[in-house]
Amino acid sequence: MDCTTESQNIIIDVHVSDETPTNVQLELRKGLESTPRRLPTKYLYDDRGSELFESICELPEYYQTRTERHLLNQYADQIMSLTKAEELVELGSGAATKTRVLLDAMAQANQLRFYVPFDVSEGIVRRVAQELVKEYKGLHVHGVVGDFLTHLEHIPDGGRRLVVILGGTIGNLDSQSALNFVSSIHAEMASGDFFLLGVQLETSIKRIEAAYNDSTGVTAAFNKNILNVMHEMFGATLNPDTFDHVALYNKTDHRIEMRLRSKESQCVEIPGLDFSFELEKGEDILTEISTKYDHPRAEKLLKQSGFDMIKWYSDSEELIGLALARKP
Ligand code: AVJ
Repeated sequence: MDCTTESQNIIIDVHVSDETPTNVQLELRKGLESTPRRLPTKYLYDDRGSELFESICELPEYYQTRTERHLLNQYADQIMSLTKAEELVELGSGAATKTRVLLDAMAQANQLRFYVPFDVSEGIVRRVAQELVKEYKGLHVHGVVGDFLTHLEHIPDGGRRLVVILGGTIGNLDSQSALNFVSSIHAEMASGDFFLLGVQLETSIKRIEAAYNDSTGVTAAFNKNILNVMHEMFGATLNPDTFDHVALYNKTDHRIEMRLRSKESQCVEIPGLDFSFELEKGEDILTEISTKYDHPRAEKLLKQSGFDMIKWYSDSEELIGLALARKP
């Protein structure tokens, strides 16, 4: 692990480099050999991908971010008085835009001490840390750069904690992985600590699909960026111009599936993985799923992971749910 102290109030731990090349290779090959072929979603969120995702959050079609921000604005004070949290741990923190609503409420209640942003993108963790120590006097930021599916044990110990996952990030996982993940978050927490889970709710398919097929093509560029990442990291011969962006709702599994569809039959070489494969014309590579929940499914996930659900907040259109839970 690399560890750097940037200033008095910032510590950043970098765990991504802990992953052995063989594990990275095995994970990638396994995905590319499954049906449909898959690429690990985390590669969408490199520094460039994270920037593109920030632009997605501002798209008129992408109702999720503004709805969740609105909900947080409404309930942050209540959440902070219920939890009495002094440390905010955010998994998949990204640009931490909505986080500020929570930090403001903590500061207002005079209970803000630590913020732990946890993200795969090193650039964004460093940027956010620097911005936030300037914005909040006396705040200590301990950033963790890593894959939250494998590096959870690196969350630093702190005071009374509130662990949050916002933006529907949990939707990136299928139901079994979500259960494993939330259970391992539970295992990392102390009894009495709180967990705030933001989920995207199932709404009309038309509205959901529009949010992933925006008219300006930002989401398509975000999706195709994974091909550039594969090229940079492993020398993959994956030309973005030979793929179409596809995002369709899968009703059975309650999720958007974002895919890259090959416009032609092609042979893909990945020298860095010592691997090559044939893609047929019209064949897909699955890059991201975004699972939609409802109140019962969210509560079940929390219960099965060992949490008690304390509060359920939702907007009038029931687009976003925020579940506040506690480890008994
Ligand atoms: C970051 C997973 C919450 O699923 O809505 C948005 C990702 N991808 N548009 C989502 C995403 C394309 C986003 N999450």
